[in-house]
Amino acid sequence: PASDPHLVERARKAKEALGDRVFVLGHHYQRDEVIQFADVTGDSFKLAQQAAARPGAEFIVFCGVHFMAESADILTSPSQRVVLPDLAAGCSMADMATFDQVEECWEALEDAGLAGDVIPVTYMNSSADIKAFCGRHGGVVCTSSNARRALEWAFAQGKQVLFLPDQHLGRNTAVLEMGMSLEDCVVWNPHRPNDMGKVAEARMILWKGHCSVHGRFTPESVDDVRERIPGVNVLVHPECRHEVVLKADHVGSTEHIIKTLQAAPSGSSWAVGTELNLVKRLGQMFPDKNVSFLDKTVCYCSTMNRIDLPHLVWALESLALGETVNQITVDQDTARWAKVALDRMLALP
Ligand code: 13P
Ligand code: SF4
Repeated sequence: PASDPHLVERARKAKEALGDRVFVLGHHYQRDEVIQFADVTGDSFKLAQQAAARPGAEFIVFCGVHFMAESADILTSPSQRVVLPDLAAGCSMADMATFDQVEECWEALEDAGLAGDVIPVTYMNSSADIKAFCGRHGGVVCTSSNARRALEWAFAQGKQVLFLPDQHLGRNTAVLEMGMSLEDCVVWNPHRPNDMGKVAEARMILWKGHCSVHGRFTPESVDDVRERIPGVNVLVHPECRHEVVLKADHVGSTEHIIKTLQAAPSGSSWAVGTELNLVKRLGQMFPDKNVSFLDKTVCYCSTMNRIDLPHLVWALESLALGETVNQITVDQDTARWAKVALDRMLALP
């Protein structure tokens, strides 16, 4: 539905009143009613870069989820404030790796005499304390647009990688982009004892986490769409299961998905396996191409959708009135180590 014109006007006025003091970042999975107010839209990597590149902005309003706002707080200066318009905008994948669970895993690796050769790599979709854990143990952060480079960097430092928390991004990158075999990967289950013999032999130790949205696409989704739309190109996000990515024609981050469609010939057909707000927007952005959702039974990311126009209006109006609401802050020690891992990512070639 179209956004409420009254709220649109209020958001516009509050943003205008704040001027250059505010910078609004919008992840591609955000609602249209929110995206229209973003100064920059992007994937997780681009948004982290953009947050770091805005030292003049007093307030960064992050229209995305909690781990992204935490990263923005870590990458900006102490005088800048990062605001998440709804604090309930978390990420179920990030919640699948808690600090205690990761510490327990590391202790088990130490007991088995393996930890010295393991480099932890965490997907951006993780809490700040997991990023700090990686910073402390010589590791790095990655996003879906630089996972391969981060893994290559990590393997140049050690023999094994502990990949947190998305097993699918880890497996898809290792097997499909780096030529490893499925046998090179072992899944670490934080909820039960793991076979340390198998762990010792693996090159990739994949944390048992996944995205609850992308995990719902199936290989059958791909077969069905190919039957329904002859000649369709299937384009999916690497958070999808390995069997799904294997059947797709293209794979990449949200930014990559947009660029692929931009470059596609007029009249071509595309079935896109990623979050629904983005797929709908792609249909509007490229009316000369036939864009469909890979599987109609998969829905929005409910936590990305928590950020809606009323929350954005409330955040902007509060800032304009001099009240900082929903500020996201990471404690100094965590921020220091998480920044080490984030800076390593930003410095990847
Ligand atoms: P990217 O935008 O980096 O592709 O990430 C996708 C995602 O799931 C963010 O939560
Ligand atoms: Fe987390 Fe998946 Fe939602 Fe991204 S799409 S915020 S990974 S649950």
